[in-house]
Amino acid sequence: MQITKSLFIGSSPAEKDCPTAWLPEYAFIGRSNVGKSSLINLLTANRHLAKTSSTPGKTQLINHFLINDLWHLVDLPGYGWAKVSKTQREGFGEMIETYIRERKQLVTTFVLVDSRLAPQEIDLAFLEFLGEAQLPFALVFTKIDKLNFSQLQKNLNHYKEILMETWEELPPIFQTSSDKKQGREEILSYIQKSNQIFVKEKRESYKKIPFKIKGK
Ligand code: GTP
Ligand code: MG
Repeated sequence: MQITKSLFIGSSPAEKDCPTAWLPEYAFIGRSNVGKSSLINLLTANRHLAKTSSTPGKTQLINHFLINDLWHLVDLPGYGWAKVSKTQREGFGEMIETYIRERKQLVTTFVLVDSRLAPQEIDLAFLEFLGEAQLPFALVFTKIDKLNFSQLQKNLNHYKEILMETWEELPPIFQTSSDKKQGREEILSYIQKSNQIFVKEKRESYKKIPFKIKGK
């Protein structure tokens, strides 16, 4: 899929404040500093679209980006950032949880994990939360440029083994490097397919509306 247009729409403090447009939406979530904003910039080929920083906690609100006038990418604050105060941290948790639970347009949540690390408790707990709420997600291993091929395979296999302990099936898995521009096409074609399903389902739901011809 070609990205011809990417536009920052706005930042919302809560789900109820998010844009009302009925467009398919894809959110990026994960621990602070895992590379969510950088990945959005890679996908849109726009280095300045989402704000990135080497200091964790850069993204603090729900940020909507309109892509090709047809769908939304959403940059979320990270979870598990130790330096914020406890109440602020709980606030982030609730903001993210409510957004993910309530946002009807949300097609897939992309959960980002650092490919260098063993599975982290907080990430596994977050996946469990998505599973229990029956919300579709995909897993994205970030910063793969920091590992060599065999280290990466070893970490991926270990992650999959851990997932198979609690999941019957593996989710879609992507490997990305925002630095080396890897994984872009794979994620974009996944989004393109999902957009087509979203449109089809919408049409089918129209068909269910009883249709009467005037005067009959
Ligand atoms: P918060 O908004 O604070 O939750 O962080 P984030 O998940 O949006 O991370 P962000 O994209 O701001 O990136 C954090 C740091 O990691 C920055 O210094 C990026 O340059 C770096 N980074 C992100 N992706 C990659 C990658 O694929 N490879 C490498 N080497 N560094 C990356
Ligand atoms: Mg960010």
